[in-house]
Amino acid sequence: MSPLTVDTRPEGDSLEADLVTVAVPEDADLTALALPFGEEVNDRLRREAKAIAFKGSLGSTARVSGAGAMRWVALVGTGQGERDADWRRVGSAVVKLAGSVKARNAVVLGVTARDPARFLAEGAALAAWTFDTYRTPDPERGDDLHPGRLTVIGGDDVKAGVALASELVPAVLLARQVANEPPNVCTPTWLADKAREIATRHDLGCTILDEQDIHEKGLRLLEAVGRGSAEESRLIHLVWTPEGEVRHTIAFVGKGLTFDSGGYSLKPPNGQMNMHLDMGGAAAVLGAAEAIGRLRPAGVKVHFVVPAAENLVSGNAYKVMDIIEAYNGTRVEIHNTDAEGRLVLADAIAWIAEQGPDEIIDLATLTGSCVVALGNETAGLFTDHDALATGLLGAADAADEALWRLPLVDRMRKQIDSERADVKNIGSRWGGAITAAMFLQRFAGEVPWAHIDVAGPAMTDEPWEYIPRGGTGFGVLLLAEYVRRRATA
Ligand code: BES
Ligand code: MN
Ligand code: ZN
Repeated sequence: MSPLTVDTRPEGDSLEADLVTVAVPEDADLTALALPFGEEVNDRLRREAKAIAFKGSLGSTARVSGAGAMRWVALVGTGQGERDADWRRVGSAVVKLAGSVKARNAVVLGVTARDPARFLAEGAALAAWTFDTYRTPDPERGDDLHPGRLTVIGGDDVKAGVALASELVPAVLLARQVANEPPNVCTPTWLADKAREIATRHDLGCTILDEQDIHEKGLRLLEAVGRGSAEESRLIHLVWTPEGEVRHTIAFVGKGLTFDSGGYSLKPPNGQMNMHLDMGGAAAVLGAAEAIGRLRPAGVKVHFVVPAAENLVSGNAYKVMDIIEAYNGTRVEIHNTDAEGRLVLADAIAWIAEQGPDEIIDLATLTGSCVVALGNETAGLFTDHDALATGLLGAADAADEALWRLPLVDRMRKQIDSERADVKNIGSRWGGAITAAMFLQRFAGEVPWAHIDVAGPAMTDEPWEYIPRGGTGFGVLLLAEYVRRRATA
C-alpha cells in the first residue's frame, strides 16, 4: 500500500481538500466554536453535531457535505486531553472517516502544539497501513481508499511534531512489514538482508554471522535451535555509533524465530498459527535501528542484535534431553524444544555482553504465559535493575506502548536447576514467563539487563485503534523513545 503522506501548511493557507476536519475538545461549546467553512456549511455542521449528540469524545466524528472543493467537512473529537498520545486516535479517526467518504486527501485544523501534532500524524499514518503485499486490489472491497495525503494546519510547533512523526512512522511500518511477511519469504537469511539494507541506508555498522561463524564462535544454542531447518540461521548485528563522545552504550536484542513449529515438542496445528510472527522482537529491534538511523542521536551508541532461526523438525533437529553448551559455557539441558526463544537469546545476550554495553534490553515473543498474565495489549518487563525499569516504563508511557513490570522470584530459580547439567530450559507449569526470564538472566553476566516479553502485543487477531490484524510493530516506539531520552542531542 502506498503510505499516507502527512505534511503541514501554515494557518491562513488554503483549506482545499476532499475532507476538512476541525479537532474539537470534549464538551466544547459548539455554538461558540469558530468554524471556517462559511455561514451555511458551518450551520449545517453544528446542527448535525447536535442531532447526533456529538460531544467531542476521543475519536468521535460528525460530518456533512461541504461546498466546492471541500467535498466533506467534519468535526473530530479529541477527548479530555489527558494524554498527548490520545491524539493517535484522532489521527486514526480522520483516516477512517476519509476512507468512508472516499476522500483522497484531508486537512486537519485545530492542532496547536508539537506533541499533539506528532501523535496525530503517527496515528493517521499507522491507521492507513495494511499488509496487502500479496492481495490483488479489489475496488469493490474498498481497497486503497485511505487518503494519500493528510495536511495538518499549524505553525512551527505543529511542523516539528509532524517532522518527528515522519521519522518514527516508517520505522514502525518497516517492523510491521517485516513481521507480516510470510515465513516462506521472511527466513533468517532474508531478515539478514533486510538488516543489511537498513545499515546501508543509514550507514550503520553491520556484521552478519552465518552458520559456519555461529558454529566456530560457539553459539551452540542458536545453532541447535536452527539445526532442524534447511534454512540457515543468522546472527545479525547492527551498530549506531554517533559522532563525537559516546556517553552511554545500549544493546537491544530481538528474538528472531521466523517460524516456530515447536520442534520435536511440536505445537498442535492451532498453536502453529501466527508463529511466523515469532520474530516480533526482531522486527521491533530492526524497526528501532531504522528509527535511530533516521534520528541520528548524539552521545549514545546502540547495538541491535537479532539471533534468527527457524524451529522445525527433521533428522538433525535438536531433541529433548540434549545437553548443549552455550556461548558462555553454561551447559543447558533441553526439556522442551518449544522453549527455543530463550536459547537463541541466551547466546545472543552472552555474545553482546562481551562487547561491554552499559545495558542489555531484549524483546521477545517468549511465552504464552505472559499473554495469560497481562493480556494481548501489554508487554511484561523483567529486570533486577530498578533504574533500568524506571527508564523503560517512562519511555513506554511516553510512547503509549503498554508495559508492566513482573517479578523475578528467587525461590522459583530451583525450577530450572538441572540434575544433568547447569540449567534446564523450562520450569514448571505456573509462572512460565518468570522462569523464562530467569533463564535469560543467567546470560547477561554483570551487565544490567532487562527483558520485555512481547508475546501479547507483538501480534493481534483483532484490529484495534490504529493497529491492523497481524504483526503490530510493537516496541519500536518504546525503544526509539528510550534512546532519545538517553541522547545528548
Ligand atoms: N513463541 C512461543 C511463545 C508464544 C506463544 C508467542 C503464543 C506468541 C504467542 C515460545 O517459543 C513458546 O513456544 N513458548 C512456550 C514455552 C513453554 C514450552 C515452556 C509456551 O509459551 O508455551
Ligand atoms: Mn516455542
Ligand atoms: Zn517461539
